[in-house]
Amino acid sequence: MHRYGGLMARAAEGEIERWPVGVPVALWPRMQAITLEVIMRAVFGITEADRLERLRGVLRTMLDWTTQPRRLLALAALGPERVQSKSLFREALDPVDELLLDEIGRRRDDPSVAERDDVLSLLVQARHEDGRPMSDAELRDELMTLLVAGHETTATALAWAIERLVRHPDKLRRLTEEVEAGEDDYLDAVVKETLRLRPVIPIVVRRLTEPMEIGGHLLPAGVSVTPCIHLMHRRPDIYPEPERFRPERFLERPAGTYTWIPFGGGVRRCLGASFAIFEMKTVLSTVLARTRLEQAHTGSERVKRRAITLTPSGGAEVVVGRRTAPQRGGPRPEAAPVGA
Ligand code: HEM
Repeated sequence: MHRYGGLMARAAEGEIERWPVGVPVALWPRMQAITLEVIMRAVFGITEADRLERLRGVLRTMLDWTTQPRRLLALAALGPERVQSKSLFREALDPVDELLLDEIGRRRDDPSVAERDDVLSLLVQARHEDGRPMSDAELRDELMTLLVAGHETTATALAWAIERLVRHPDKLRRLTEEVEAGEDDYLDAVVKETLRLRPVIPIVVRRLTEPMEIGGHLLPAGVSVTPCIHLMHRRPDIYPEPERFRPERFLERPAGTYTWIPFGGGVRRCLGASFAIFEMKTVLSTVLARTRLEQAHTGSERVKRRAITLTPSGGAEVVVGRRTAPQRGGPRPEAAPVGA
């Protein structure tokens, strides 16, 4: 995971440099730009500027198209097979498919693929149990899954972290000081508390394969149950004063496997949880080392549902000031860049 540290920090630095100073700016789309860059480099393994530029363009169009609530409903109603054939959907998807299949072809032909550590290179070398390599279509589907599952979720969690921190200047100050001192504990607690109080995804869904008793009700096999992340994270017996943003609670007591579940749980728990936590810590450290942030408006931003994610209603609007000299906590020079 630490191999990706330098790459994540550089993606954040490049984006932070473009943030306007002294005026309200919504950080949620800015965080999306960072997480998209990280996926294109760490997962797809693309580093050449012109290919990144082309992919960035078609991915943005596709992501904007597919994450509009109205369209998501249509996708859910039609089901994947029928959606695949709809020309409107194909218009957004075909250019992405084309570029991804081109990248897959290049990676298959790359004689140094074994030395690369981006996810696509690892998948190209993976084998099914019977020894077969993954097909182009399988590889493309894996890349798309990682992109869709990992890009907006992590950006939203980062936006919420900033939204909560600027409304708690004492916590922001403590975090800045500890990050400057090269310490990780409070940063880890801030990430956990953000994901507790503002879980990006409110529920997970499971279908029972056998009867199960839940809360005194016997549910038959075949029933769908939806463990609610939001409600679990607000239980006052587990989290006293559950509405308060208090990262210290995770310094006092470790996060419980069954009570802190922003990434779901069990065999279908989020595959990218470690990646997301590491990315959140790296991006937050880099932001704190280079900027001074203040809230743009008083009052908390409301939780707004956008397709399946819960986002800050104002896009996490802040006023950015620059710090003069780069502080500790920014990119660590020893972190090896990936493919760059
Ligand atoms: C803060 C960021 C993230 C949050 C809050 C999040 C949350 C979740 C949740 C709640 C699930 C469903 C788990 C369940 O049903 O038990 C999930 C699944 C998944 N996530 Fe994430 N995720 C995040 C980032 C990522 C990243 C960065 C990646 C990959 C690069 C990723 C890849 C996946 C995949 C592949 C699945 C499906 C796993 C399966 O069905 O086996 N996620 N995520």
